[in-house]
Amino acid sequence: MKKIEAIIREEKLQEVRVALEEAGFIGMTVFDVKGRGAQGGISLQWRVGDYRIDLLPKKMIMLVVKDQDYPKVVDVICKVSKTGAAGDGKIFVSTIDEVIRVRTEESGEPAL
Ligand SMILES: Nc1ncnc2c1ncn2[C@@H]1O[C@H](COP(=O)(O)OP(=O)(O)OP(=O)(O)O)[C@@H](O)[C@H]1O
Ligand SMILES: [Mg+2]
Repeated sequence: MKKIEAIIREEKLQEVRVALEEAGFIGMTVFDVKGRGAQGGISLQWRVGDYRIDLLPKKMIMLVVKDQDYPKVVDVICKVSKTGAAGDGKIFVSTIDEVIRVRTEESGEPAL
């Protein structure tokens, strides 16, 4: 199984959520996060001088899916989230050892 942690623009969350549902990916966890990428936030010019916003608000979607499904999930998220401008987001993929559905105590892929 693979865990996908996608950090995206806040305003893209709803569209990504719907596109994932349409592609058959229902289970997910969404977090409010703050972060910075390679540019380290943004600078604003105020009358009082330069003001640096270091950590920008973003949304993070976390899903655990079958190994063979993760390229599809990545593709859906990229297609919807990409504007072409800096700050479009980043996707981390890692391997998950185990999942347990509490109600039935099923484990592994059937528990996803
Ligand atoms: N190396 C990293 N480790 C952990 N989180 C990261 C990393 N890079 C980016 N993030 C997270 O992803 C969010 C979006 O990053 P962002 O899209 O700005 O990446 P980038 O590498 O700067 O690409 P771009 O040049 O398109 O802006 C950040 O706000 C932060 O939350
Ligand atoms: Mg950036």
